[in-house]
Amino acid sequence: MDVRIKKTAEEMSLEAALIFAETIRKKPNCVLGLATGSTPLKMYSELIRMHKNEGLDFSRVITFNLDEYLGLPSEHNQSYRYFMNDVLFNHINIKKENTFVLNGTAKDPQLYCDAYEMLIKALGGIEIQLLGIGGNGHIAFNEPGSPRNSRTRIVDLTKETIAANSDGRFFKDPKDVPTQALSMGVGAIMDAKQIVLIADKTSKADAIYKTVEGPVTEDVPASFLQEHQNSIIIVDEAAASKLEKQYA
Ligand code: F6R
Repeated sequence: MDVRIKKTAEEMSLEAALIFAETIRKKPNCVLGLATGSTPLKMYSELIRMHKNEGLDFSRVITFNLDEYLGLPSEHNQSYRYFMNDVLFNHINIKKENTFVLNGTAKDPQLYCDAYEMLIKALGGIEIQLLGIGGNGHIAFNEPGSPRNSRTRIVDLTKETIAANSDGRFFKDPKDVPTQALSMGVGAIMDAKQIVLIADKTSKADAIYKTVEGPVTEDVPASFLQEHQNSIIIVDEAAASKLEKQYA
């Protein structure tokens, strides 16, 4: 694990954006794994800026998102498809047909999830996967207890995750949050050639401590990243505040 501590969320976001931009410049037809949530917003703004001011070219880039609420149609303003269009895809020169977000209204969700993974494999696998982290250590919607070998599937959301996603940022009322989602599994995430996890704020400090310095355990799904050969954890000082060892 390459742990990088940045002073601010802005510096964390810039560092992550630079890593993704380098990947795109080296391999213009690369396959990126993307995340939703609050944490990547500044990073996506920076990628948009690089596209507009520096000509960062997304015309051959392919993307796969980690997760989607089960039962939410893509037009719903809280769907992750809507979110990705709004905060990134509508502002760069990516072809919409090259952007894949799990379909929360698929008729046969498990068959659909299997096909999603098959498509990733057929395209050569994910070059670089972006992750946020839940306060309980979840990655994508792999809640505590998710096995290392879990694949893309239907998952139940914990009360904590439902509360976190209805704190006014996304849904207004916990009752409105779907209780299930489709999520890439831990095993599917670990198949990525490189993984970049970003986290800011003290609310993530405990999860970051367990992820980086705790034992590798299903109880903290992000801790499996310790076993990935090319994982980078970029955190601001607040999220790093419980780490005990020294990092660059
Ligand atoms: C979203 C996702 C989630 C979030 C996590 C943190 O696609 O996979 O695991 O990364 O819940 O969310 P924020 O960034 O809103 O704190």
